[in-house]
Amino acid sequence: MTSFVKSWAAALALTVMTSGAAFAQPANDEATKEAYIKQGEVVFNDYCSACHGANGEGGSGPALAKNGFVNGRAAVINQVLFGATDHGMPPFAPVLTDEQVAQVATYIRNSWGNKAGIVLPRSVELRRTETSN
Ligand code: HEC
Repeated sequence: MTSFVKSWAAALALTVMTSGAAFAQPANDEATKEAYIKQGEVVFNDYCSACHGANGEGGSGPALAKNGFVNGRAAVINQVLFGATDHGMPPFAPVLTDEQVAQVATYIRNSWGNKAGIVLPRSVELRRTETSN
């Protein structure tokens, strides 16, 4: 009986832990970075390329290829979340999840000659809750 109760409690604990009450943060490693670059390309093509060009060459928005702006992690996250509404870029905070913003930010920071670190969802979450742009 005791062991039954114990294993029931263990199963319940496991269910609670894996039921996704909190979003599991990805590891800050090369594998995650590679995955984010791939997934970020999809987000970019869906939401950004119309203005920034399929190859980051620019269009109605500035070129992101070889653009030092993308090296600033906070600057990129803020730009994507809040846009520049008076200069023609919409805010994506209402549209993209923290993970999608992290993916697209990692992608533009590591494409077309740009080379910078991964952006993780928790960094996006922190900035999303800030009121200032
Ligand atoms: C409707 C057009 C449009 C879309 C869609 C758009 N942008 Fe922009 N983006 C702009 C414009 C215009 C600017 C310049 C804003 C300014 O001068 O303040 C800009 C600026 C930026 C910058 C700063 C570049 C710099 O040198 O100042 C980044 C980074 C950026 N966008 C990333 C993205 C990403 C990532 C997406 C997709 C999630 C996206 N943009 C979608 C129009 C757009």
